[in-house]
Amino acid sequence: MDMKQFIQEMPKAELHLHIEGTVSPKRVLELADRNGVNIEFKSEKELLDAQDYGTPPLENFLKYHYMCSDVLRTGRDIFEITQDYLEKCVIENTRHVELSFDPQGHLERGIEFGELIDALNKARKDSPVSTQLVMCMNRDRTLESALEMLKLAEDYKDDIVGLGLDSVEEGNPPVKFQEYYDRGRELGFKLTAHCDCDQNNAVEHARQCIHDLGVHRIDHGVHVMDDPQLIEDVKERGITLTMCPTWRLGDPGPRRIPAIRKMLEMNVPACLNTDDPEEFASRYMSNMLSVVQEQGEFSAEEMTQFMRNAFVGSWIPDARRGAYLKELNAHLNTFKYKSDTS
Ligand code: HPA
Ligand code: ZN
Repeated sequence: MDMKQFIQEMPKAELHLHIEGTVSPKRVLELADRNGVNIEFKSEKELLDAQDYGTPPLENFLKYHYMCSDVLRTGRDIFEITQDYLEKCVIENTRHVELSFDPQGHLERGIEFGELIDALNKARKDSPVSTQLVMCMNRDRTLESALEMLKLAEDYKDDIVGLGLDSVEEGNPPVKFQEYYDRGRELGFKLTAHCDCDQNNAVEHARQCIHDLGVHRIDHGVHVMDDPQLIEDVKERGITLTMCPTWRLGDPGPRRIPAIRKMLEMNVPACLNTDDPEEFASRYMSNMLSVVQEQGEFSAEEMTQFMRNAFVGSWIPDARRGAYLKELNAHLNTFKYKSDTS
């Protein structure tokens, strides 16, 4: 068994995945056509070429991301894209996904909250892949809007496991959403928030997430590594960093490899995720992991450790976690046995 096959067949979990970032250029065009939405790009090639985001990377990426999300207009659209993504997970040997969705944009475009959750659930229930939902607030919108969404989410507590924060970080510090997080914790939701890469006040934002919001995970969170105290804090509290060493069209390869190696060496709980697989050149799990493994020269044990961290950081019952971890260890042992005997 070579490394590629080892990674392809590895039982996987993905904790940082936006369902709106799984719509392929082909699908974007089909949905734009079906829903009568006029988008600026007219062919798959034009859409793919536009994935060279340039600078500022987060803002330009988000512009593309929201343009693609804008073609989603009905529960049927949400159902179909979720079904497509979960079919991909089967091929990727992804066993468990904590799937983020952004309700605010969907509601604005006319999908009701219940319809949105029903559509996600309809696709989830027929899939062999285990999934849980994470509701993300766009941090460039208001606290009031976030509190309204939380009120709606209270009726779907069996479906939504956690709350998150995404979109434009500049000028929107985590504490803007203190009340949303406090209320969410009281209601029993798990908590995460994006701390994106290379943002102003990145270290302070990570500190706010850990100490003010009291998150259980951080999405990305690479700048935790800039502060020895925050490194200690995430280790002590078991806060998993859901890193996404994705790369854009035109990049030489995965970003942030030195940081993820340092996380591994310092026993910081970090896992590897695709974020928005149809919007980055890194695409889906096996491809992203294989290129990260090659370029970072990570061993099979090290790749297994990242995946162990994903299952440990997931919000599933301990019995299921134990079963996944056993399967993951067995996969590593088979690889080692075959390597020793070949
Ligand atoms: N960061 C912020 N907002 C997002 C992201 C991200 O990585 N993906 C989708 N929305
Ligand atoms: Zn993200």
